[in-house]
Amino acid sequence: MVRNNTRDSYGSLTRTLHWFTAFAVFVAFPLGFIANTLLQSPSASLTQVFTLFSAHKTVGIVAFALGLARVIVALRQVRTDPIRTHRFWEIWFARLVHWALYAALLVVPLSGWLTHASSEGFAPIFWPLGQGLPFVPRSEALVETFAGIHNASTKFLALLVLLHLAGAIKHSLIDQDETLRRMTLGVATETRPLPAAVIALVTAMALWVAVVVSGALSGSGQSSSVVGDQVEWQIERTSIVLVDAGTERSMDVDLSARLSIPANTQRRFNGTLDVTILLDNAEDSSALLLMDATDAFLIQLLGVISGSNNNGTVTGDVDFGSSTSPVSCEVALSNSGGVIACSVNVPESELSVKFELQAVRP
Ligand code: HEM
Ligand code: HEM
Repeated sequence: MVRNNTRDSYGSLTRTLHWFTAFAVFVAFPLGFIANTLLQSPSASLTQVFTLFSAHKTVGIVAFALGLARVIVALRQVRTDPIRTHRFWEIWFARLVHWALYAALLVVPLSGWLTHASSEGFAPIFWPLGQGLPFVPRSEALVETFAGIHNASTKFLALLVLLHLAGAIKHSLIDQDETLRRMTLGVATETRPLPAAVIALVTAMALWVAVVVSGALSGSGQSSSVVGDQVEWQIERTSIVLVDAGTERSMDVDLSARLSIPANTQRRFNGTLDVTILLDNAEDSSALLLMDATDAFLIQLLGVISGSNNNGTVTGDVDFGSSTSPVSCEVALSNSGGVIACSVNVPESELSVKFELQAVRP
């Protein structure tokens, strides 16, 4: 088996990388598409969506590594010439699509990675190498710009792959020539050099510049209309109990809660949860016990519902007036609603308060 390309055949390295890269792209694409579509479905569970996004990003990074190797090999090895029997326009158009596909292997995963690295808490890449990127700050505006580029570039990639596939099918079924067998078996064919090859390269790169710029512009336009556009979810309490040295006593006190999540839940789920439990003037015996122990009349909880908490845990602080203590809540939200369950330890006592809230997206 010949390892390197020659002018009339593809070497084993090029062919192996071609098919592995194609496979990774064919897995990453539907994962990204399905995750993004599910995100907008009211019944989808966030945990499911985050797992899909994590899988998407991880496979996308594999595609990037393979794509990078592919581009390096292509630059270092001889370029295989087009088959002699192909028409001039076919050769020119195929070459344009090939150049654009090479660029896609870098632009598509890199723009996805930059989107991920600049966003605050999101489905993690399944690897131990950290989630950020050097010199890439976490910023909403950057997220929107990179996501705009990722969005536009994945659409362009889909178009390129369709054209590329159509060409492969045409040459196999209609022309019945050696095109596909060159890339699968590595067979050698009679070739001819491509005239005006540079024009194909320049056209492909110009198209990519247009795609990246239009994606960046559409993304940055989005951010101004979306950032700060919070949706107030409706909250109903389902239970509140005082745990006194292991014994649970239900409480009859006023509890009010606010849950705000950005309207654009497409990319992030960062929101705030603010719960106030009023003990003032409470006649309930459990509430009185709590007042004795804490000297507090107001308990306030502020937490951030963050996409990185895909295990459903939200952390925040409880304000007891004279002191604050940390709290964590179990959150199981889908796009339409769900349950938030919190447990708050009262400082310097054996007491804790447990409550459960039902959240509904209006
Ligand atoms: C089932 C899907 C695919 C098929 C059947 C296929 C088939 C082929 C064939 C037959 C060639 C050789 C063309 C020639 O000799 O003129 C080729 C080249 C190429 N393919 Fe694919 N391909 C597929 C998917 C992909 C994907 C997903 C990518 C990248 C995202 C890709 C990137 C390339 C590139 C860059 C070349 C040019 C190789 C060179 O430098 O000459 N292909 N493909
Ligand atoms: C060849 C590799 C990749 C392909 C084919 C691909 C494809 C896609 C597709 C089709 C979507 C849904 C449509 C969209 O909103 O853009 C998407 C979304 C997304 N992908 Fe990728 N992707 C790749 C690599 C990556 C990588 C490596 C990462 C991060 C490490 C990533 C992060 C994302 C993110 C964060 C979104 C959501 C973007 C948004 O909020 O609009 N992708 N990707």
